Amino acid sequence: MASSKNLFTRAKKIIPSGINSPVRYYPPYPFFVKKAKGSVMWDVDGKNYLDYCNAYGALLLGHRPKEIIADVKKQMDRGTLYCAPTELEVNLSELISGNYPSMEKIRLVNTGSEATMTAIRLARGFTKKKKIIKFEGCYHGAHDYVLVKAGSGAAHIGMSVSEGSLDEVSKNTLVVQYNNFHELQSLLEQDDDIAAVIVEPVLANMGLVLPEKDFLNDMRKITLEKNIVLIFDEVVTGFRMSPGGAQKYFSIKPDVTTLGKALGNGFPIAAVGGKTEIMDMLSPEGKVYQASTYAGNPISVSAGISSVKTMNKLKSKLYPKLEKNCANLVSAIHDLASDMKIPHRINSISSMFQIFFTDDAVVDYSSAKKSDMIKFKKLFEGLLKNGVFIAPSQFETVFLSYAHSKDDLKETIAAYEKALQVVKQ
Ligand SMILES: Cc1ncc(COP(=O)(O)O)c(C=O)c1O
Repeated sequence: MASSKNLFTRAKKIIPSGINSPVRYYPPYPFFVKKAKGSVMWDVDGKNYLDYCNAYGALLLGHRPKEIIADVKKQMDRGTLYCAPTELEVNLSELISGNYPSMEKIRLVNTGSEATMTAIRLARGFTKKKKIIKFEGCYHGAHDYVLVKAGSGAAHIGMSVSEGSLDEVSKNTLVVQYNNFHELQSLLEQDDDIAAVIVEPVLANMGLVLPEKDFLNDMRKITLEKNIVLIFDEVVTGFRMSPGGAQKYFSIKPDVTTLGKALGNGFPIAAVGGKTEIMDMLSPEGKVYQASTYAGNPISVSAGISSVKTMNKLKSKLYPKLEKNCANLVSAIHDLASDMKIPHRINSISSMFQIFFTDDAVVDYSSAKKSDMIKFKKLFEGLLKNGVFIAPSQFETVFLSYAHSKDDLKETIAAYEKALQVVKQ
């Protein structure tokens, strides 16, 4: 079989940058995967890795959970795409709403990006207002409404992070610092053309940043007072923080929720749902347009049903195990780094964590940017060399899965020890 190096040379000639999503690249070239099972991925070069990237959080149950694979195989014998409704879609929507009571009505889509795009369009259609507010460092997918960072000139006015996007679109996305309620409040006092506030209730796309006490509650209160649609983007936190996501974990009810990733545990499916009066704006009965050939396809929907049923069935073991393993791992890594006198902070919650090489607390984009990226690169490379794969960026999160065993954790701690020794140099 071809080596990763050879495959990357071929890939570069036919695929822009050699990869199909930017964060998958790291120098000199990424390993190419041969197969995966449970907590492990094997590459084409004969190496294997304990996987803590976990498809950026999608694989809550690990690679190839047997219940889901069996259900998908059964569905494959019945058809893969009908573009006509099925009982499966009704079943999955009922299951999701059972776990997420704020999602009174649901549309199934394919990706998190589609879900957030639809949520925002719905909020604009519902409120008849134009602008939205997002928080700096939150990621909500690769479309123009949200691919926006804080503008340097005018405070709050967003600038696209991508060439090819329209300023006319990004200037309607206002950007506020995460955990800065006063900034949010003063913006809402000044501007009465805000349709929605969209937020990752726990920010998992800037490393990991936790909401400070009352931040989400205050956001809920003010958006209710001002009739602004509050969108919880739970593409990462959904099913990961609890069977009912971050909204259950923090007891906050958003108006609209987006789910993805763990909803399908490795199959492409996402959902957007919320209050009936908002969701009923969707066409054909409503005037907000949303459509997709593959939305609700029976393969992904079967995977979704199987995932939700499995996560619900396992919940009394699943969440305590994930939380305990994560807490143990974080405390071991913290001890190692402290013993080696490496300045660091670790943010963690439920089954997610990230280390930042900095002396200061990481609470928002500016504080996350202060951490030492060269040290992080050394950590990533050291872990990879020692058989542990995490996402190759400081601005991503380490995700545990149900498949990680006690032995895996021991191996992981040993790998962190070796990698931190290199960081220290
Ligand atoms: C919080 C959040 N929202 C939305 C998305 C976009 O999801 P997708 O990549 O499935 O389009 C992501 C992807 O990482 C995400 O982390």
